[in-house]
Amino acid sequence: MTLVVDGRRVAVAPGLSVAAALARVGDGVTRTSVSGMARAPLCGMGICQECRVDIDGRRVLACQTVCRDGMDISTGLPQRLRRPHPEPGDAP
Ligand code: FES
Repeated sequence: MTLVVDGRRVAVAPGLSVAAALARVGDGVTRTSVSGMARAPLCGMGICQECRVDIDGRRVLACQTVCRDGMDISTGLPQRLRRPHPEPGDAP
């Protein structure tokens, strides 16, 4: 299935949570703190709220949301803070 993550189209396996998908296709960052630091999922069970993302304009918890084809996910992370996403064929 295909998702759009911060404007970038990515392919992920069905059945993943959004948090798992973000970790698989990039750096796993879901949001920034009030001081601008990158944040990522911590508890994985809906408690810590570190995995908040906007999906199709709604704020949700990435660890509690299963991917659907065509989801438009926004982390709000400025591009300058994001590590480059690996592309198919890139060395690990
Ligand atoms: S990782 Fe803690 S609420 Fe999602």
